Amino acid sequence: MGDLENHFGDDASLDVEDTKNILEFLVQNSAETSTMQSSLMFLKSIGNKDIIAMSQTKVWEKLHKDIEKEVFESNDIKSKANCKACHTDIEKGLIDNDKIKNINSFIF
Ligand code: HEC
Repeated sequence: MGDLENHFGDDASLDVEDTKNILEFLVQNSAETSTMQSSLMFLKSIGNKDIIAMSQTKVWEKLHKDIEKEVFESNDIKSKANCKACHTDIEKGLIDNDKIKNINSFIF
């Protein structure tokens, strides 16, 4: 949030009010304030490392190691960051096994 002009190659800068509101939301809903198992798991995996994407953590890599690279690159997914393509309830913070799509359903 401190350098939105350089946001993964895009200029995502916002006005002061929007920046303040989004930052407040992010702090209030950060993994540090959560009691969810996955939040604790990711926090532990991040440790003191300078990691900006969950998909770069050791725990994420371990959980997804059996999924072939082609699946993430498929037209339906396009990126590891597209968690919702496979975890249908992730916007509610839920990553239950029965809410994970069958990865064989993605067309290559
Ligand atoms: C290609 C589909 C796919 C994408 C995209 C994906 N996941 Fe997953 N994820 C899976 C599958 C399949 C499993 C189950 C792996 C297993 O049980 O062996 C899983 C497991 C997990 C688990 C463990 C769930 C549990 O109950 O133990 C977490 C947490 C998780 N993913 C988070 C994420 C996050 C965060 C993202 C985005 C940054 C993401 N995943 C992107 C398919 C995906």
